[in-house]
Amino acid sequence: GGPALKRAAGLVREVPDFPEPGVLFRDIGPVLADPDAFGAVVHALGRRGDFDVVVGVEARGFLLGAAVAHACGTGVVGLRKPGKLPAVADRVDYDLEYGTATLELPADALESGQRVLVVDDVLATGGTLGAARQLADKAGCEAVGAAVVLELTALEGRAAVPDWDVQALFTV
Ligand code: PRP
Ligand code: HPA
Repeated sequence: GGPALKRAAGLVREVPDFPEPGVLFRDIGPVLADPDAFGAVVHALGRRGDFDVVVGVEARGFLLGAAVAHACGTGVVGLRKPGKLPAVADRVDYDLEYGTATLELPADALESGQRVLVVDDVLATGGTLGAARQLADKAGCEAVGAAVVLELTALEGRAAVPDWDVQALFTV
């Protein structure tokens, strides 16, 4: 990566005790707010180029996923927290570093056979990427891999998505 990507790495903010005591939360907000860093990150996340559609995960994956899709000339599909969608194709429950969660795939969003790139901000336990991959698989898509800004390696999230091509721009 060039200087803008280096700059982006330095803009990730560490927030102690969020969302609960003992968790050191990595906030990529300042990366998105910086034009050069944001551009470099979006370009790097879409670099592989072998996908037909981007799937972005609520909430920070929406911001990144939409930008990556637009930069790469694809559409984007948002996976949502429960109760938000008017029509749901499928849902998957999963575990998080701090609790459990559910993701829902909107109806009539993914087409069978599409090559899907999943985009999110952070890979922690891998529960979220695992759920996204399951939703893409069950929709008949080929989940070619995932791209995240930051991987928290201590949480070993890659183990939740074995044999999957997960690209992390930065690791900590
Ligand atoms: C965070 C983050 C990833 C996920 C990573 O989202 O944005 O989506 O957790 O954790 P995992 O690898 O352990 O699954 P969060 O659930 O906090 O939701 P939000 O983006 O709506 O705040
Ligand atoms: N940052 C953002 N999302 C997360 C984190 C974090 O540190 N841990 C688990 N999900």
